[in-house]
Amino acid sequence: MKLFLDTANVGQIREASKLGVIDGVTTNPSLIAKEGRDFKDVVKEICSIVDGPISAETVAEDSEGMFKEAIELSKIHKNIVVKIPMTAEGLKAVSRCRGAGIRTNVTLIFHPNQALLAAKAGASYVSPFVGRLDDVTEYGMDVVRRIVDIYDNYGIMTEVIVASVRNPLHVLEAAECGAHIATIPYSVLQQMIKHPLTDIGIQKFLDDWKKVPGR
Ligand code: G3P
Repeated sequence: MKLFLDTANVGQIREASKLGVIDGVTTNPSLIAKEGRDFKDVVKEICSIVDGPISAETVAEDSEGMFKEAIELSKIHKNIVVKIPMTAEGLKAVSRCRGAGIRTNVTLIFHPNQALLAAKAGASYVSPFVGRLDDVTEYGMDVVRRIVDIYDNYGIMTEVIVASVRNPLHVLEAAECGAHIATIPYSVLQQMIKHPLTDIGIQKFLDDWKKVPGR
């Protein structure tokens, strides 16, 4: 399973990349806005830190505009994946991107049928948003499970990125249902590392070590 970091904060990306567990990065307009920096500068810097797929999102609402943005974004770096929202215009843009050899990540997926259409249009990745589904009392992970099953049934190569991850259980369940990727906030990565029994165990080893003669 691949782990992407879901942030545009280069400090967090630098720190997390030292752990050797990060395979890519996803951003969105909200995450970019939080940084208060030039969009392209941030994306370029992220590409210089992580050698893997880096998602950068379009903001046009028509397919022509999305495709133009996709061309510009894909010029930034060879690892750029263009994130396009799941709309009819988005699907048209995804199809054109596939023709032009530009990889896409179809975002704001909330139903398996949307994921089926995105894959058929030629998306390299789809991003179902589990946290936002949980927020409205729908089981986000059920959507992921059904997408994975549908893709398996037909040998579809589009990869499933579990997004809107809010806690370590989301990552665990994503892995259990065979999602290819989870994109996680830095805080969730920190939570995944820690276990109180690990800390207690280290302390006990250190205390016992002090009793070893001639150490
Ligand atoms: O990258 C999109 C997604 O991960 C957003 O998460 O927490 O804003 O629903 P959230």
